[in-house]
Amino acid sequence: MLTNLKPQPADKILQLMQMFREDPRTDKIDLGVGIYKDATGNTPVMRAIKAAEKQLWETETTKKYTALAGDPAYGDAMVDLVLGGAVARDRVAAAATPGGTGAIRQAVELIRMASPDATIWISAPTWPNHPSIIRYVGMKMAEYRYFDDATRGVDFDGMMADLAGVKAGDVVLLHGCCHNPTGANLNMSQWAEVVESLQKTGAVPFIDIAYQGFGDGLEVDAEAVRLVASSMPETLIAASCSKNFGIYRERTGILMAVSETASGQPLTQGTLAFLNRQNYSFPPDHGARLVTMILNDDALRTDWQAELEDVRQGMLKLRTQLAAELQRLSGSDRFGFLAQHRGMFSRLGATPEQVERLRAEHGIYMIGDSRMNIAGLNEATIPILAKAIIDTGI
Ligand code: LMR
Repeated sequence: MLTNLKPQPADKILQLMQMFREDPRTDKIDLGVGIYKDATGNTPVMRAIKAAEKQLWETETTKKYTALAGDPAYGDAMVDLVLGGAVARDRVAAAATPGGTGAIRQAVELIRMASPDATIWISAPTWPNHPSIIRYVGMKMAEYRYFDDATRGVDFDGMMADLAGVKAGDVVLLHGCCHNPTGANLNMSQWAEVVESLQKTGAVPFIDIAYQGFGDGLEVDAEAVRLVASSMPETLIAASCSKNFGIYRERTGILMAVSETASGQPLTQGTLAFLNRQNYSFPPDHGARLVTMILNDDALRTDWQAELEDVRQGMLKLRTQLAAELQRLSGSDRFGFLAQHRGMFSRLGATPEQVERLRAEHGIYMIGDSRMNIAGLNEATIPILAKAIIDTGI
């Protein structure tokens, strides 16, 4: 049996992680996988997480199962964090999942159960695991234009033209904030136009929000998802706590599905619980419990928000510094987009050959499409990267 298996394509992001690890150079720079790093290159456990873990260790008396959809208190806390009361709570079904990826997988399976012939539209480009999961689950897929290679901003006209061709009942996958891999985002008036288009075509929005708090702030980053969910009859939302709580390996995510009416919610909620049971039964609890404790405790929450805000400000500062250094070296404003982008990533706009030269000649690792993790930089490596970018003719 096992001899029938065929090798599967390696995930580009994880492959690069491996190559970086194996590179013996001591001055190598990792701008690959999307993990936040502080100025010393560490990915620290956030203070509020440490405090909640200590408290949990002291007070937890059992490890028995929670519920198939996870602890309901986690669902409530996350619905509030993401949706902030934008839609009535009784319209929202929610189930804890192993990370944001788990939420995406469950959402695609939910779509297949409800609407097996629907096409799922993804942005070109998008996070590579989106098409990979959609293909694996066996759903049809199409792309809408998103990124303008010339301006390194959003190709909004192209996007709107493509969204106009979406059929009723198709699903449109959108990044709630901090677009991965480009860093280019819609403004709120553009989001309003997207909503109008979705209403006109009768498409179902599916929002992936994995970086809330990394762009323009915890509340501002949720504005788009709140606008969409409050304007559309149905919305799917996959949210991750990996980045904003720094609990990557705890696998803490949630899938929310907003039904048109409160009377439709129990069916959706039951289906989410069923899907969890089929795939892994009870979702992981540790990370979800820490998140719930932090969100429901004033002191922990205040400290978490303060640390998250420092992380965000730090990344913004790196963006501004890199853009300024490139302006100084190139004598042009052509890298100004780096300061405009938001979140952890920016697509530099280099060719695959140039990306390969950065790796081979300078030990600088970024994804082949020239996505770089801004958080992988620090004050010392910014001038090194800027010089390498110019030397490589980008
Ligand atoms: C990334 O895009 O680098 C992160 O979301 C990590 C991952 O799982 O790919």
